[in-house]
Amino acid sequence: MDDIKQIIDRALAEIKNADLAVLEDIKTRYLGKNGVLTQILKSLLQYSIEDKRIIGLETNGAKDIIVSEIEKRKKSLKKVLLDEKMHKEKLDYSPSFYFPFSKGSFHPVVQTIKNISSVFKLLGFSIVEGPEIETDWYNFEALNIPESHPSRDAQDTFYIEGMKNLLRTHTSPVQIHVMEKQNPPVKVIVPGRVYRNEASDASHSSTFHQIEGFEVDENISFVDLKAVLINFIHQFFGSELGVRFRPSHFQFTEPSAEVDIQCFFCNCGGCRICKNSGWIEVLGCGMVHPDVLKTVNYDSEKYTGYAFGMGVERITMLKYGIDDIRLLYENDLRFLKQF
Ligand code: PHE
Repeated sequence: MDDIKQIIDRALAEIKNADLAVLEDIKTRYLGKNGVLTQILKSLLQYSIEDKRIIGLETNGAKDIIVSEIEKRKKSLKKVLLDEKMHKEKLDYSPSFYFPFSKGSFHPVVQTIKNISSVFKLLGFSIVEGPEIETDWYNFEALNIPESHPSRDAQDTFYIEGMKNLLRTHTSPVQIHVMEKQNPPVKVIVPGRVYRNEASDASHSSTFHQIEGFEVDENISFVDLKAVLINFIHQFFGSELGVRFRPSHFQFTEPSAEVDIQCFFCNCGGCRICKNSGWIEVLGCGMVHPDVLKTVNYDSEKYTGYAFGMGVERITMLKYGIDDIRLLYENDLRFLKQF
């Protein structure tokens, strides 16, 4: 019994001044597989039943005391660390922080939307917006996305009020809204917020922004699509940049393509950002599917069109060399002030 009492005293004395690492060490030395108290419990076999009971009780009691003291110490250490951090990162509310007034600025995502929009305005596009809450019909059905398509899964889409309404998963439904209201020619871009049911990490977020663009008129061909997008990329990213169209698939365009630009981080030598390929994917596009034109009662024999869509956060990150999308949503002034 005296031994156990001594063990407790020794442990408590050690815990008193321990830091987090030492606490872990103490835990191992007293309570671990080969810890002092564990050894005692293991040795109980040699004692009488009555002794076993008493020593077992005492040892387990000692364990409880040590565990709870370690937890207490941990808590107070964490509080000290937090206090220190809060003190260091304390926001300065004093007048000297605000005066002379520093001008506010646009968030980098907004800045990117404005920059992209102004390039397309010069190319003759008008800017329109559409609703963020959509029906299944606008977001999927009218875009030729069948019931069985994986993107309609509740795991990827935020449904609201049953399965009829949802948070739009892309800006493409605005194609339908625009064409329902207006006869050709149409030539618009659509910036807006979109939602996908996915876990956030360095490159994914459940809320982000897209810019959709499309033109429908007589005699519109893939050449027009290429011309517009190459022009945009050269104005936005740099006039020297190589651009490549890679065959792809979207339900509402045919043919479809993905557009890559040469990696300007490594000059195509291969790096982490271009995953060693020398190319970076920047957007999806294609010729508007005739079925989509028919859905909005456009004469698909007479009219053709192209459409494209890009992720604004992705383009912002490429443009400014930001490696974690979450930085764009934290609104930490130290980050935002750099733009
Ligand atoms: N809506 C597609 C997406 O979110 C992008 C796209 C838009 C593709 C227009 C082709 C044409 O991935």
